[in-house]
Amino acid sequence: MSPRVLLASCAELPESDGDDTPLPAVLAEVGIKAEWVPWDSIGEPALMLEPASGSSVDLVVLRSTWDYPLRRDEFLAWCDGVPELANRADLVRWNTDKAYMADLASTGLPVVPTRLLPPGAELESYDTEIVLKPAVGAGSQGAGRFLPDERERAVAHVAALHAQGRTVVLQPYQPAVDDEGETALVFFGGRYSHGFLKGPMLPRGEVEMSALFVDERLAPVVPDAARRALAEDALDAACGLHGIERSDLLYARVDVLTGTGGAPVLLELELAEPSLGFRQADPGAPLRFASAVRAELARR
Ligand SMILES: Nc1ncnc2c1ncn2[C@@H]1O[C@H](COP(=O)(O)OP(=O)(O)O)[C@@H](O)[C@H]1O
Ligand SMILES: [Mg+2]
Repeated sequence: MSPRVLLASCAELPESDGDDTPLPAVLAEVGIKAEWVPWDSIGEPALMLEPASGSSVDLVVLRSTWDYPLRRDEFLAWCDGVPELANRADLVRWNTDKAYMADLASTGLPVVPTRLLPPGAELESYDTEIVLKPAVGAGSQGAGRFLPDERERAVAHVAALHAQGRTVVLQPYQPAVDDEGETALVFFGGRYSHGFLKGPMLPRGEVEMSALFVDERLAPVVPDAARRALAEDALDAACGLHGIERSDLLYARVDVLTGTGGAPVLLELELAEPSLGFRQADPGAPLRFASAVRAELARR
Protein backbone atom coordinates (compact mmCIF):
# COMPACT_ATOMS: atom_id res chain seq x y z
CA MET A 1 0.00 0.00 0.00
CA SER A 2 1.31 3.48 -0.82
CA PRO A 3 2.47 5.53 2.12
CA ARG A 4 0.04 8.31 2.96
CA VAL A 5 1.32 11.80 3.75
CA LEU A 6 -0.67 14.82 4.86
CA LEU A 7 0.57 18.26 3.85
CA ALA A 8 -0.51 20.51 6.71
CA SER A 9 -1.84 23.91 5.63
CA CYS A 10 -4.15 26.45 7.28
CA ALA A 11 -7.87 27.06 6.87
CA GLU A 12 -7.43 30.37 5.05
CA LEU A 13 -5.13 28.82 2.41
CA PRO A 14 -5.98 25.11 2.41
CA GLU A 15 -3.63 24.32 -0.49
CA SER A 16 -0.88 26.86 0.33
CA ASP A 17 -0.38 30.04 -1.69
CA GLY A 18 0.40 28.10 -4.86
CA ASP A 19 4.13 27.64 -4.32
CA ASP A 20 3.67 24.06 -3.14
CA THR A 21 1.18 23.16 -5.90
CA PRO A 22 3.49 20.61 -7.61
CA LEU A 23 4.01 18.57 -4.45
CA PRO A 24 1.10 16.08 -4.46
CA ALA A 25 1.80 15.13 -8.09
CA VAL A 26 5.56 14.67 -7.67
CA LEU A 27 5.02 12.73 -4.46
CA ALA A 28 2.57 10.50 -6.34
CA GLU A 29 5.26 9.87 -8.97
CA VAL A 30 7.43 8.28 -6.27
CA GLY A 31 4.57 6.25 -4.84
CA ILE A 32 3.38 8.55 -2.05
CA LYS A 33 -0.27 9.47 -1.66
CA ALA A 34 -0.24 13.10 -0.47
CA GLU A 35 -3.16 15.36 0.34
CA TRP A 36 -3.61 18.85 1.70
CA VAL A 37 -5.37 19.32 5.05
CA PRO A 38 -5.51 22.44 7.27
CA TRP A 39 -3.59 21.52 10.44
CA ASP A 40 -6.51 22.25 12.75
CA SER A 41 -8.78 19.87 10.86
CA ILE A 42 -6.34 16.98 11.19
CA GLY A 43 -7.98 15.40 14.20
CA GLU A 44 -6.59 12.50 16.18
CA PRO A 45 -8.76 9.84 14.46
CA ALA A 46 -7.12 10.66 11.12
CA LEU A 47 -3.72 10.03 12.67
CA MET A 48 -4.50 6.74 14.31
CA LEU A 49 -3.08 3.71 12.64
CA GLU A 50 -5.94 1.97 10.87
CA PRO A 51 -4.19 -0.26 8.37
CA ALA A 52 -7.30 -2.34 7.71
CA SER A 53 -9.26 0.61 6.37
CA GLY A 54 -6.23 1.93 4.54
CA SER A 55 -6.59 5.28 6.23
CA SER A 56 -3.39 5.37 8.25
CA VAL A 57 -1.21 8.42 7.97
CA ASP A 58 2.49 7.71 7.77
CA LEU A 59 3.75 11.28 8.00
CA VAL A 60 2.41 14.80 8.47
CA VAL A 61 4.54 17.46 6.76
CA LEU A 62 4.12 21.04 7.96
CA ARG A 63 3.87 23.31 4.97
CA SER A 64 1.69 26.43 5.10
CA THR A 65 0.48 26.51 8.71
CA TRP A 66 0.75 30.29 8.67
CA ASP A 67 -2.08 31.08 11.11
CA TYR A 68 -0.24 29.73 14.19
CA PRO A 69 1.40 32.96 15.46
CA LEU A 70 -1.65 34.07 17.48
CA ARG A 71 -2.41 30.51 18.69
CA ARG A 72 1.03 29.02 19.07
CA ASP A 73 0.27 27.05 22.25
CA GLU A 74 -2.62 25.29 20.53
CA PHE A 75 -0.47 24.69 17.46
CA LEU A 76 2.43 23.25 19.46
CA ALA A 77 0.09 21.02 21.48
CA TRP A 78 -1.27 19.74 18.18
CA CYS A 79 2.28 19.17 16.87
CA ASP A 80 3.12 17.20 20.04
CA GLY A 81 0.13 14.95 19.36
CA VAL A 82 1.12 14.05 15.79
CA PRO A 83 2.98 10.72 15.95
CA GLU A 84 5.06 11.34 12.84
CA LEU A 85 5.67 15.01 12.12
CA ALA A 86 8.23 16.73 9.91
CA ASN A 87 9.95 18.70 11.02
CA ARG A 88 9.90 17.29 14.56
CA ALA A 89 7.70 18.98 17.16
CA ASP A 90 10.62 19.87 19.46
CA LEU A 91 12.34 21.65 16.58
CA VAL A 92 9.11 23.46 15.69
CA ARG A 93 8.75 24.60 19.32
CA TRP A 94 12.31 25.98 19.30
CA ASN A 95 12.06 27.52 15.86
CA THR A 96 8.70 29.31 16.16
CA ASP A 97 10.07 31.77 18.72
CA LYS A 98 12.77 34.07 17.36
CA ALA A 99 14.51 33.71 20.76
CA TYR A 100 16.27 30.84 18.93
CA MET A 101 18.47 33.50 17.30
CA ALA A 102 20.30 33.92 20.64
CA ASP A 103 21.02 30.17 20.76
CA LEU A 104 22.49 30.31 17.26
CA ALA A 105 24.51 33.43 18.12
CA SER A 106 25.93 31.60 21.16
CA THR A 107 27.50 29.05 18.80
CA GLY A 108 29.47 31.85 17.13
CA LEU A 109 27.28 32.04 14.05
CA PRO A 110 27.05 35.59 12.64
CA VAL A 111 23.42 36.65 13.12
CA VAL A 112 21.59 39.96 12.91
CA PRO A 113 21.99 41.45 16.43
CA THR A 114 18.76 40.50 18.19
CA ARG A 115 17.27 41.67 21.47
CA LEU A 116 14.00 40.56 23.02
CA LEU A 117 11.53 42.89 24.73
CA PRO A 118 9.04 40.77 26.67
CA PRO A 119 5.74 42.39 27.71
CA GLY A 120 6.56 45.13 30.23
CA ALA A 121 10.07 45.82 28.87
CA GLU A 122 10.64 49.34 27.58
CA LEU A 123 12.14 50.27 24.23
CA GLU A 124 15.60 51.66 24.86
CA SER A 125 16.78 54.77 23.05
CA TYR A 126 18.23 54.10 19.61
CA ASP A 127 20.14 56.16 17.07
CA THR A 128 19.97 54.11 13.88
CA GLU A 129 16.95 52.71 12.09
CA ILE A 130 15.50 49.65 13.88
CA VAL A 131 13.15 46.77 13.17
CA LEU A 132 10.46 45.76 15.64
CA LYS A 133 8.65 42.49 15.01
CA PRO A 134 6.87 39.82 17.03
CA ALA A 135 9.09 37.03 18.40
CA VAL A 136 6.38 34.61 17.29
CA GLY A 137 5.49 35.75 13.81
CA ALA A 138 5.48 34.75 10.16
CA GLY A 139 4.97 36.28 6.77
CA SER A 140 6.39 39.68 7.87
CA GLN A 141 3.13 40.25 9.76
CA GLY A 142 3.63 42.76 12.59
CA ALA A 143 7.13 43.69 11.39
CA GLY A 144 8.02 47.35 10.92
CA ARG A 145 11.03 49.64 10.60
CA PHE A 146 11.45 52.84 12.59
CA LEU A 147 13.84 55.78 12.22
CA PRO A 148 15.31 57.43 15.32
CA ASP A 149 12.93 60.39 14.91
CA GLU A 150 9.95 57.98 14.86
CA ARG A 151 10.39 56.88 18.46
CA GLU A 152 6.81 57.67 19.37
CA ARG A 153 5.50 55.40 16.62
CA ALA A 154 8.01 52.71 17.65
CA VAL A 155 6.94 52.85 21.30
CA ALA A 156 3.31 52.57 20.17
CA HIS A 157 4.14 49.51 18.05
CA VAL A 158 5.90 47.82 20.97
CA ALA A 159 2.86 48.61 23.13
CA ALA A 160 0.48 47.17 20.52
CA LEU A 161 2.42 43.89 20.33
CA HIS A 162 2.77 43.74 24.13
CA ALA A 163 -0.99 44.30 24.46
CA GLN A 164 -1.42 41.07 22.46
CA GLY A 165 0.85 39.37 25.01
CA ARG A 166 3.66 39.13 22.47
CA THR A 167 7.39 39.48 23.02
CA VAL A 168 9.01 41.94 20.61
CA VAL A 169 12.22 41.40 18.67
CA LEU A 170 14.42 44.48 18.32
CA GLN A 171 17.07 44.49 15.61
CA PRO A 172 19.06 47.16 13.79
CA TYR A 173 17.65 47.61 10.29
CA GLN A 174 20.13 46.07 7.84
CA PRO A 175 20.24 48.67 5.04
CA ALA A 176 21.82 46.34 2.46
CA VAL A 177 18.37 44.73 2.19
CA ASP A 178 17.09 47.81 0.36
CA ASP A 179 19.44 47.15 -2.58
CA GLU A 180 19.99 43.39 -2.43
CA GLY A 181 17.05 41.92 -0.54
CA GLU A 182 17.70 38.70 1.34
CA THR A 183 18.81 35.32 0.02
CA ALA A 184 16.95 32.16 0.99
CA LEU A 185 18.88 28.88 0.80
CA VAL A 186 16.69 25.78 0.81
CA PHE A 187 17.78 22.35 2.05
CA PHE A 188 15.97 19.00 1.82
CA GLY A 189 17.06 16.19 4.11
CA GLY A 190 20.01 18.35 5.14
CA ARG A 191 21.34 18.80 1.60
CA TYR A 192 21.33 22.04 -0.37
CA SER A 193 18.62 22.20 -3.06
CA HIS A 194 18.26 25.76 -4.39
CA GLY A 195 18.24 29.42 -3.57
CA PHE A 196 16.00 32.38 -4.21
CA LEU A 197 16.01 36.11 -3.61
CA LYS A 198 13.39 38.01 -1.65
CA GLY A 199 13.10 41.76 -2.13
CA PRO A 200 13.00 44.16 0.85
CA MET A 201 9.75 43.61 2.78
CA LEU A 202 9.39 46.58 5.08
CA PRO A 203 8.17 49.93 3.72
CA ARG A 204 8.87 52.90 5.96
CA GLY A 205 5.94 54.27 7.91
CA GLU A 206 3.57 51.30 7.88
CA VAL A 207 3.17 47.91 9.53
CA GLU A 208 0.89 45.13 8.25
CA MET A 209 -0.85 43.73 11.30
CA SER A 210 -3.61 41.51 9.93
CA ALA A 211 -2.74 39.82 6.61
CA LEU A 212 -1.67 36.19 6.83
CA PHE A 213 1.49 37.19 4.96
CA VAL A 214 2.79 40.20 3.08
CA ASP A 215 3.27 39.68 -0.67
CA GLU A 216 6.86 38.97 -1.58
CA ARG A 217 8.90 39.82 -4.67
CA LEU A 218 10.94 36.71 -5.39
CA ALA A 219 13.52 35.72 -8.01
CA PRO A 220 15.79 32.76 -8.63
CA VAL A 221 19.44 33.08 -7.57
CA VAL A 222 22.57 31.00 -7.22
CA PRO A 223 23.85 32.19 -3.83
CA ASP A 224 27.50 33.25 -3.58
CA ALA A 225 30.05 31.14 -1.72
CA ALA A 226 29.95 33.20 1.48
CA ARG A 227 26.18 32.76 1.72
CA ARG A 228 26.38 29.06 0.99
CA ALA A 229 29.02 28.61 3.68
CA LEU A 230 26.98 30.55 6.24
CA ALA A 231 23.88 28.51 5.47
CA GLU A 232 25.81 25.24 5.89
CA ASP A 233 27.19 26.54 9.19
CA ALA A 234 23.68 27.52 10.32
CA LEU A 235 22.36 24.00 9.70
CA ASP A 236 25.30 22.43 11.53
CA ALA A 237 24.85 24.86 14.44
CA ALA A 238 21.15 24.00 14.76
CA CYS A 239 21.91 20.28 14.58
CA GLY A 240 24.62 20.66 17.22
CA LEU A 241 22.27 22.52 19.55
CA HIS A 242 19.65 19.77 19.25
CA GLY A 243 21.92 16.74 19.00
CA ILE A 244 20.41 15.76 15.66
CA GLU A 245 21.72 14.81 12.24
CA ARG A 246 21.29 16.92 9.12
CA SER A 247 19.04 14.19 7.74
CA ASP A 248 16.63 14.80 10.65
CA LEU A 249 15.60 18.01 8.87
CA LEU A 250 13.19 17.17 6.06
CA TYR A 251 13.35 20.81 5.00
CA ALA A 252 15.14 23.93 6.16
CA ARG A 253 15.43 27.44 4.78
CA VAL A 254 18.26 29.72 5.77
CA ASP A 255 17.66 33.45 5.18
CA VAL A 256 20.81 35.49 4.82
CA LEU A 257 21.48 39.16 4.19
CA THR A 258 24.54 41.39 4.03
CA GLY A 259 25.25 42.75 7.48
CA THR A 260 26.48 46.23 8.29
CA GLY A 261 30.08 44.93 8.30
CA GLY A 262 29.71 43.80 4.67
CA ALA A 263 29.73 40.04 5.39
CA PRO A 264 26.59 37.87 5.25
CA VAL A 265 24.64 37.39 8.47
CA LEU A 266 21.73 35.15 9.37
CA LEU A 267 18.28 36.77 9.48
CA GLU A 268 16.28 33.59 10.02
CA LEU A 269 16.58 29.82 10.08
CA GLU A 270 13.17 28.44 9.17
CA LEU A 271 12.43 24.90 10.27
CA ALA A 272 8.67 25.12 10.79
CA GLU A 273 6.65 26.39 7.86
CA PRO A 274 8.90 28.14 5.34
CA SER A 275 7.84 28.84 1.78
CA LEU A 276 10.31 26.79 -0.20
CA GLY A 277 10.38 28.89 -3.37
CA PHE A 278 9.48 26.10 -5.81
CA ARG A 279 8.21 28.72 -8.26
CA GLN A 280 11.67 30.27 -8.37
CA ALA A 281 13.59 27.00 -8.41
CA ASP A 282 14.64 24.66 -11.21
CA PRO A 283 12.10 21.96 -12.13
CA GLY A 284 14.14 19.37 -10.22
CA ALA A 285 13.47 21.00 -6.85
CA PRO A 286 10.07 19.38 -6.18
CA LEU A 287 11.59 16.03 -7.17
CA ARG A 288 14.38 16.51 -4.61
CA PHE A 289 11.75 17.32 -2.00
CA ALA A 290 9.81 14.16 -2.89
CA SER A 291 12.99 12.09 -2.65
CA ALA A 292 13.69 13.56 0.80
CA VAL A 293 10.15 12.58 1.88
CA ARG A 294 10.84 9.04 0.67
CA ALA A 295 14.06 8.99 2.72
CA GLU A 296 12.16 10.30 5.73
CA LEU A 297 9.50 7.58 5.39
CA ALA A 298 12.19 4.92 5.07
CA ARG A 299 13.86 6.08 8.28
CA ARG A 300 10.68 6.02 10.38
N1 LIG B 1 16.81 43.50 10.88
C1 LIG B 1 16.25 43.61 9.67
N2 LIG B 1 16.81 44.41 8.72
C2 LIG B 1 16.24 44.54 7.50
N3 LIG B 1 15.10 43.94 7.13
C3 LIG B 1 14.50 43.15 8.05
C4 LIG B 1 15.04 42.94 9.35
N4 LIG B 1 14.21 42.11 10.03
C5 LIG B 1 13.21 41.83 9.18
N5 LIG B 1 13.38 42.44 7.99
C6 LIG B 1 12.49 42.37 6.83
O1 LIG B 1 11.22 41.93 7.29
C7 LIG B 1 10.89 40.66 6.72
C8 LIG B 1 10.23 39.77 7.78
O2 LIG B 1 11.10 39.56 8.88
P1 LIG B 1 11.55 38.10 9.31
O3 LIG B 1 12.54 38.22 10.42
O4 LIG B 1 12.00 37.37 8.10
O5 LIG B 1 10.23 37.48 9.92
P2 LIG B 1 9.10 36.50 9.34
O6 LIG B 1 9.50 36.10 7.94
O7 LIG B 1 9.15 35.34 10.27
O8 LIG B 1 7.84 37.29 9.42
C9 LIG B 1 12.20 40.11 6.18
O9 LIG B 1 11.94 39.31 5.04
C10 LIG B 1 13.00 41.36 5.83
O10 LIG B 1 12.69 41.86 4.52
MG1 LIG C 1 11.29 35.75 7.05
